[in-house]
Amino acid sequence: MRERLEALRKEAEVAIQAADDLEQLRDLRVQYLGKKGELTAVLRGMKDVSAEDRPVIGGLANEIRSQIENLLAEKETAEREAALEKRLAAEAIDVTLAARPQPLGGMHPITAVVEQIEDIFTGMGFVVAEGPEVETDRYNFEALNLPQDHPARDMQDSFYITPEILLRTHTSPVQVRTMEEKEGQVPVKIICPGKVYRRDDDDATHSHQFYQVEGLVVDRGIAMSELHGILAAFAEKMFGMALETRLRPSYFPFTEPSVEMDISCIKCSGKGCRMCKQTGWIEILGAGMVHPRVLEGAGYDSERYTGFAFGMGPDRIALLKYGIDDIRHLYTNDLKFLRQFQSV
Ligand code: PHE
Repeated sequence: MRERLEALRKEAEVAIQAADDLEQLRDLRVQYLGKKGELTAVLRGMKDVSAEDRPVIGGLANEIRSQIENLLAEKETAEREAALEKRLAAEAIDVTLAARPQPLGGMHPITAVVEQIEDIFTGMGFVVAEGPEVETDRYNFEALNLPQDHPARDMQDSFYITPEILLRTHTSPVQVRTMEEKEGQVPVKIICPGKVYRRDDDDATHSHQFYQVEGLVVDRGIAMSELHGILAAFAEKMFGMALETRLRPSYFPFTEPSVEMDISCIKCSGKGCRMCKQTGWIEILGAGMVHPRVLEGAGYDSERYTGFAFGMGPDRIALLKYGIDDIRHLYTNDLKFLRQFQSV
């Protein structure tokens, strides 16, 4: 009896050590300790043991039972931990792995320039105003002192939808819309960025669709010197360098007097090069003192208030600033071209 018990102890020890998953351990528990298990079977022979040996053998049997019990429990815990370790290792995320790059779009050069223009002017107290791209003849022409027979109204120059409605040919109508909304209040200090349309044949310097940023200041005592001061400050900020500026007389129906502003060439600083066609100067915008008829038409007393307006082309500024040789590049959506501006 004693030998059988000892043999069972050995056998169980070996079997439990050799088990390598929880299922095997469960089977071993049934095999040794279950109701039909081997230890139970041995103990069934207790009736044949002599009365004086019985306590000793019984004690031994109990000892072996609890020993097997402990071994199984230990091994089960070990197996459970090992299984957990294995799962954690399998599910581990390698945080040192380099991230897959997510391709991000870049800023279109025109958008970049428009935003820079907005930043510069809002920094000087201007407010951004917007208006519709489909405009009425009144806002696009009439209220801007462009009389009925003005050549700009020609079917050749403008995209008409009906005789009264057209795609705006400049952002100047937003001047008039804003002044009407303000109902004679001052100051007016706005810039109006947006798309405009003209029936030009597309070539290296013309596009039938392009951008403008219009500016308007109306208040008491606004003079030409304010116009020049603000636009000169703008140009230096825009191109990020010290510049000479000059105003040349020009003509726009909605300003009087009218001027064009040139800056000293950003490439040769005025010495003369291909960019400035050897003149040393580059024209960047049109401007002037708001025509009294425009002020009056929009509800402002031109005896009390004066103002200046200007209009510039972000496309042209983008061409100059980034050294682009053809305006059509800005509208053909060639990724090889556009990717060069991803960081601007
Ligand atoms: N609207 C003019 C143009 O399209 C530009 C401009 C605006 C000129 C305001 C003077 C004042 O050419």
